[in-house]
Amino acid sequence: MLKRVAILANGGDVSGFNAVIRAILKTAENNGVECYGFIDGYRGLLKNNYVRLSTSGDGNAVGILPKGGSIIGSSTNANVFQYPVEEDGKKVYKDLSDICVENIKKDEIDCLFTLGGDATQKSARDLSLKGINVIGVPKTIDNDVACTEITFGYNTAVSVAADALDRLHTTGETHHRIMVLEVMGRYAGWIALESAIAGGADVALIPEIPYDINSAARKVINRKNRGKSFSVVVVAEGAKPIGGDISVANVRDNGAGVDNTKLGGAGERVAKELEKLTGLEARCTVLGYMQRGGTPTAFDRVLSTKYGSKAMELALNGDFNRLAVIKDGRLSSVPLEEVVGNNKVIGAVSGNTPESNIRRVTMDHDLVKTARHIGINLGD
Ligand code: F6P
Repeated sequence: MLKRVAILANGGDVSGFNAVIRAILKTAENNGVECYGFIDGYRGLLKNNYVRLSTSGDGNAVGILPKGGSIIGSSTNANVFQYPVEEDGKKVYKDLSDICVENIKKDEIDCLFTLGGDATQKSARDLSLKGINVIGVPKTIDNDVACTEITFGYNTAVSVAADALDRLHTTGETHHRIMVLEVMGRYAGWIALESAIAGGADVALIPEIPYDINSAARKVINRKNRGKSFSVVVVAEGAKPIGGDISVANVRDNGAGVDNTKLGGAGERVAKELEKLTGLEARCTVLGYMQRGGTPTAFDRVLSTKYGSKAMELALNGDFNRLAVIKDGRLSSVPLEEVVGNNKVIGAVSGNTPESNIRRVTMDHDLVKTARHIGINLGD
């Protein structure tokens, strides 16, 4: 019998965090289960900092469905298996996961819901090996969590990017310019690819296809020769030229086991090179955190609600240590063991790195085929 459950939201925020929290909470309340929220992701679990969640009266979870962000915060740099602590004036990394395990036992939490991407689910799986009941819910605007077809937050990010592309179209057309839009996507180009299709872009450069800038330039020149003196180009922040490197803005020391290197500059680089090669003026816009904030789309509200209620259903059935997923378009779940793939060592590099078991764009995917059919240049 479940009595008490707790939720933590971890990693970069997305629109839909609150909708998942609400769905878990409502399903819990409807089944007589108490629901708590740890504040600021795994950091809250480590510090045992939590609140009771409630949708009744003026409870803290009233009216949160359309609200961006997370009412219980989130953290992008709290790997409890390699946590930064000061020792003799020096920063060292320690495995503090046993403190988390003790807190969960002390608080008598029967199941912990971990809302997050690959790093979050890697730590969740590692906690499950220490005897904690966990259930993961796949979040990230990058849409790159393994074993599921879609993560919550992704659809909102694509919608924001498509809207930006519509706006760049009219200004680009007016001034006969190449308009470059840099979108998020470190190791997976889903946002760039799907928003390019939704926004009618001419070129889309994604991390999975190292690009030849001459190929993109040819597309722009061909358009110019056909009387279209402007072009719209989408660049994923993780796109890189053939034989070249990813564009890094700054390397942040956010803790061992998590790669939080701040990417930046990929779009500007492409804009400068296209300007040189085509003779057209180019301008770059970096969409950045606009993709993560604000109200979720109706699609994300529904997806988040489905995920949250499924996660609680799994808990009620005692089906722990699984990730709620969408498979063949339907709600399902898989063991967290499958989600971490070969990254199995407890506390090993946890997420957002090339080693992570993430879901990348494959060349036989419908979106790639569609883009090619309608003439979107993918830089190859
Ligand atoms: O992982 C999701 C993501 O949106 C990436 O696309 C991006 O590189 C990263 O978060 C940036 O997050 P932050 O600056 O908050 O660490």
